[in-house]
Amino acid sequence: MFAQFDKQIDEIISKMTLKEKIGQLNQEKAPSGKEEYENLLEMAKRGEVGSVLWASSAYAGAGNEPGINVELMDELQKCAVENSRCKIPVIFGRDVIHGHKTVYPIPLAMACSFNNDLVEKCYRATAKEAANDGIQWSFAPMIDLSRDPRWGRIIEGPGEDPFVGASFAKSAVKGFMGEKLSDKDSVVACAKHYIGYGASEGGRDYHRTEISDYTLYNFYLPAFRAAVNAGVGTVMSSFNDISGQPISSSVHHIREILKEKVGFEGFVVSDWDAVIQLVKQGVARDEKDCAELSLKAGIDLDMKDRAYLTYLEELVKEGIVSEELINDSVKRILRVKFAKNLFENPYRNQVSYDRKEHFALAREIAEETAVLLKNDNVLPLSKTQKIGVIGPFLKEKRDLIGSWTLDGKAEETPSLYEALLNRPEKENIVFADSLEELSGVDTVLLALGEVHTNTGEANAVAKLTLTDDQIELVNRVKSLKKKTIAVIFSGRPLAITRQIPCLDGILYAWHSGNETAPAICNLLFGDKVPSGKLAMTFPRTVGHIPMYYNVTPSGRPVDGYYGENPENCYNDIPASPLYPFGFGLSYTEFSYEDIKCDNKELSLDELKNGKKFNISVKVNNKGDYSAKETVQLYIRDLICLNMRPLRELKAYQKKEIQKGCDETFEFSVGYEELGYYYSDGSFHVEPGEFEIYVGDNCLTENKIVINVKA
Ligand code: BGC
Repeated sequence: MFAQFDKQIDEIISKMTLKEKIGQLNQEKAPSGKEEYENLLEMAKRGEVGSVLWASSAYAGAGNEPGINVELMDELQKCAVENSRCKIPVIFGRDVIHGHKTVYPIPLAMACSFNNDLVEKCYRATAKEAANDGIQWSFAPMIDLSRDPRWGRIIEGPGEDPFVGASFAKSAVKGFMGEKLSDKDSVVACAKHYIGYGASEGGRDYHRTEISDYTLYNFYLPAFRAAVNAGVGTVMSSFNDISGQPISSSVHHIREILKEKVGFEGFVVSDWDAVIQLVKQGVARDEKDCAELSLKAGIDLDMKDRAYLTYLEELVKEGIVSEELINDSVKRILRVKFAKNLFENPYRNQVSYDRKEHFALAREIAEETAVLLKNDNVLPLSKTQKIGVIGPFLKEKRDLIGSWTLDGKAEETPSLYEALLNRPEKENIVFADSLEELSGVDTVLLALGEVHTNTGEANAVAKLTLTDDQIELVNRVKSLKKKTIAVIFSGRPLAITRQIPCLDGILYAWHSGNETAPAICNLLFGDKVPSGKLAMTFPRTVGHIPMYYNVTPSGRPVDGYYGENPENCYNDIPASPLYPFGFGLSYTEFSYEDIKCDNKELSLDELKNGKKFNISVKVNNKGDYSAKETVQLYIRDLICLNMRPLRELKAYQKKEIQKGCDETFEFSVGYEELGYYYSDGSFHVEPGEFEIYVGDNCLTENKIVINVKA
């Protein structure tokens, strides 16, 4: 898709000086103050600015970033396209991670909706709002697989599973790009952070990772491959090292795997200062070394640190870096600028959109991201009972939109308190500051959670519990012996193990954007039925980490720790998860019939030629509510050259089933689903038996066996 402009681009490059080429490889940060701004204009005139990142600090996601200044952007663009010799437009980027002005749930929560269409719609709406503010490129989707809820950036990605990650990547990229990338309301997407950043040791941000190529190909890469196949224009490399090689200097990861094996034709941008950080990481003596290593590794655009701008010319003249490599990077950057139609349409476009529709979408997805973890006949709330609400998150607004929102506003986010006041049931609600005020109520609703500042970049936690005051509140409310329900607003799975016995109901609300609270009210009162499923395992305690469902079997105990054989692992705590991947309750009850398959056996050749196993399951809604169910299909490849996971999600479908009715869910499982990657990156389906599981979470026992003949 991106190589179609190469003829025009080659011609442009043939007329560029070395300095002008290097200018294209330089990304400046947003100027702070007049002096920096004027300097930036002059740089643009000299052709030294390939891109501007509209953020002014290294921690854009956590801090108070200045808003976007469209007039400044247009003035700067004018310098590039009218006053520079080559007239090449600048591309403007910003972190638009889970919504722009309208804020949608944090990506980890969005993944729990298991609703790809809805995710795509949210990113489509996001692209329109961002494009209208002059943003041509978003540094999203963040698709780092992570198994560590301590890591603050866990909020930003789709969780622990490669298939969910790939589905999320595809939906987000399609949403950003729309019909065509050249359309005025489309935005270039950026798959980040390539690669392995989510595996940082101990959940400590920016720290080392240890990932074999086998694990990389099968777990960390699929989401990036899906983003590339969906047409992502850019990839951001990550800060971490893998087994001692920082990604910013890794020829193996960027050139060999991403560009050659995966076939990525767009450009790679480094992360903030990541090029010059090679000095701190101890693989470069000075910034000149850094520029050499990163360019050779395949980083095309240098984010903010000016190492390329300062040293590449010298490096070419000294014969250390070839001009060919620079040409290749320029070509990749210009491909994206052409695909986005910036040469024809470099300035900010007015894009119309209906903010009301975007809020409606934000509410719809927030309703689908919340996960009902426990319900001992307390939810939905009856419209007449007396409810007392208490807890530190009752009046909270800012935390509900989560971290990594640069342009979202707390003022546009109703608190749970405000949302409840808007309900017809408000007369029956007591808003309590103390336990005494709860004496006359039937049910207590606890508003609990974590602050958004515990999540996001450079924020990790070593404890996964609720804060002490919240734990105490739960215990004190328990002593009232009333029905108690907790709504938990959080950015990560919290180890609420000890609170579970004190609670009759738990609705995990996440930090789900502007419409979190109204959506939660709709769920609490039964206007909507919960349908979210966990995209990440909940561990019982920090000591469980890493805990993820798609583990390989161990020789002893035979089936591993996650499901069947929990007792043989830790002496002090069950080894099984608190809540497994894919889990989430509903107000209704679904029953699954046996799995059917049209064919129990196919040959390898038939699979290679596109034949598939057609699998179906009938799901009955036996309860009193029409509701959505996400049916999940997992496989297990029984005997292989390499150990394969006990379960691997390979497909899911979410559908509404009317009460008293059933629906048939159909899946096809073929070559792509049954294969896996060897350490050299080659893809294989190995003949033999496969177990196919279809059910409502990763521990389902509903299975059949199929056979692939040699
Ligand atoms: C983050 C990136 C972000 C960049 C620009 C970095 O610190 O790691 O995710 O895109 O800053 O704001």
